[in-house]
Amino acid sequence: MNASQPPDSRWQRAQLLREMGFSPQWRLRQQPAVGRQPSVVLADATRAGLHQQAVEQARPLPGGASADVPSAARTERTERTERAEQIARLGWDELAESVAACRACGLCEQRRQAVLGVGDHGADWLFIGEGPGAEEDARGEPFVGPAGKLLDAMLAAIDLRRGADVYIANAVKCRPPSNRTPEAVEMVACAPYLRRQIELIQPRLIVLLGRAAAHALLGDVGSLASLRGRPLEYREGAGGRVAIPVVVTYHPAYLLRTLPDKAKAWEDLCRARTVMRMAKGAATRPA
Ligand code: URA
Repeated sequence: MNASQPPDSRWQRAQLLREMGFSPQWRLRQQPAVGRQPSVVLADATRAGLHQQAVEQARPLPGGASADVPSAARTERTERTERAEQIARLGWDELAESVAACRACGLCEQRRQAVLGVGDHGADWLFIGEGPGAEEDARGEPFVGPAGKLLDAMLAAIDLRRGADVYIANAVKCRPPSNRTPEAVEMVACAPYLRRQIELIQPRLIVLLGRAAAHALLGDVGSLASLRGRPLEYREGAGGRVAIPVVVTYHPAYLLRTLPDKAKAWEDLCRARTVMRMAKGAATRPA
């Protein structure tokens, strides 16, 4: 807590933390070990793992195979690459049009509308969730249902606000039926959109909300518990030139069901704030 804040804002913060289920004993007693371990670069190496899983899921059933399968697979790979390259050139307006018209996976069949994301296009903070739910599908904005209310409270607890230096996106842009977890094929189909959003925003920090978001961006790299608290990076740009720090935490919908883990989410948010301070410090330090 910042002692220079006026008492009413401190009171508001305390209220918010209470609403989130945090109490004073959950405050961090020591600085998290940011930067003490070597940073782990996961994005490119492990995206291949996600892709492999998608290939497995998309593999034709036995009996349907033909002698042409290798060349069909090659054509599909080429088409996928061309589509990704084309998406990588889009500006915001074209990106929104492309997402709205996208039919790259089965999720388009039951969506009311695709949900690109919301917020500041030049945000330092990028939060990534899993995929739109029923309310998001109806309103066209991510995190507007109960999980979204908790996400707003989490943002407020670290002095952030939706739309102000914050952008919120999802791993998949269309609602998975019955709010199921998106499948690997669906996340792979949507990945070029997420990558383009990251390139356009150039956030200083990415916060991944839940395992599906971690899976989409980092690949299948293990349990959420094993990713929390680890120094991670997402690399983008030609040859992975740009390294963006990544913090992984629980999905707000999970936190609504599992109150005890809110304390851990609070630790993650404090850590994210520390990582952001370091990222800003590094950017202002003379070369
Ligand atoms: N859950 C998500 O992951 N994203 C949303 O937009 C809403 C709920």
